[in-house]
Amino acid sequence: MKRLVVLTGAGMSAESGFSTFRDSGGLWERYPVEQVASHDGWLADPDLVNDFYNGLRQQLIKAKPNRGHELLAEMEKDFDVHIITQNVDNLHERAGSHHVIHLHGELMKVTSSADPDNPRYIRTLTPEDYEVHPGDKAADGSLVRPYIVFFQEAVPMIGPASEEVEQADIFVIIGTSLNVYPAAGLLSYVKPRVPVYLIDPKPVNAPGNRPVTYIAKGASAGVADLWDHLSKADL
Ligand code: APR
Repeated sequence: MKRLVVLTGAGMSAESGFSTFRDSGGLWERYPVEQVASHDGWLADPDLVNDFYNGLRQQLIKAKPNRGHELLAEMEKDFDVHIITQNVDNLHERAGSHHVIHLHGELMKVTSSADPDNPRYIRTLTPEDYEVHPGDKAADGSLVRPYIVFFQEAVPMIGPASEEVEQADIFVIIGTSLNVYPAAGLLSYVKPRVPVYLIDPKPVNAPGNRPVTYIAKGASAGVADLWDHLSKADL
């Protein structure tokens, strides 16, 4: 089976009711990103940050995977599908995808603020218990923080993600403005003759100068077109 590697961003979850970050009315227009999603913001006001992510979790619990998520999961019958997502939602997993790498963390997980990448302290919240309250402590006695990669912090999963991209037979980019590194840099790991597709209703400036096949549609319609194209193409 051909290895289909997919890089997704906020646009993948737009049809599930999540606002993107940089579209008009996007999240970073309504919340100062440096206050709610940066390391310094966490140090300055951990309660504000935890409250912001409590709000996103509340949205996620009510949200459902959209047709685009479902189609990517269904494509596992024709391709060895590996998803690398910048999204912190769990919609790819809930749609049935089996190989998902989260570059920027996971919204339904929290961890120690003293030792955030130590698996011993990573805890998965449930729809019944999804809020972090001021003063909540992790098992090591430090304040509980979201298991999210804040701006100014390293992206521990970029290594495994780059290795995935190097093994791609087909590379697909869905719903990301490719503004944020190192995620946007993954395109440079795609081997020379591997076809690249980009699904986005708006034009996206893909770094580098390799040919990209644009599908100027939303995620659901775009993935349907892509699958149809791939099933006819002789790759
Ligand atoms: N289907 C597909 N793409 C869509 C849709 C849709 N229905 N609606 C919007 N888009 C596209 C937009 O045109 C845009 O190109 O999704 C992209 C969203 O871009 P951003 O809002 O910049 O989100 P993203 O690229 O995921 O941001 C990357 O930045 O703030 C950080 O950590 C955060 O992971 C995030 C990272």
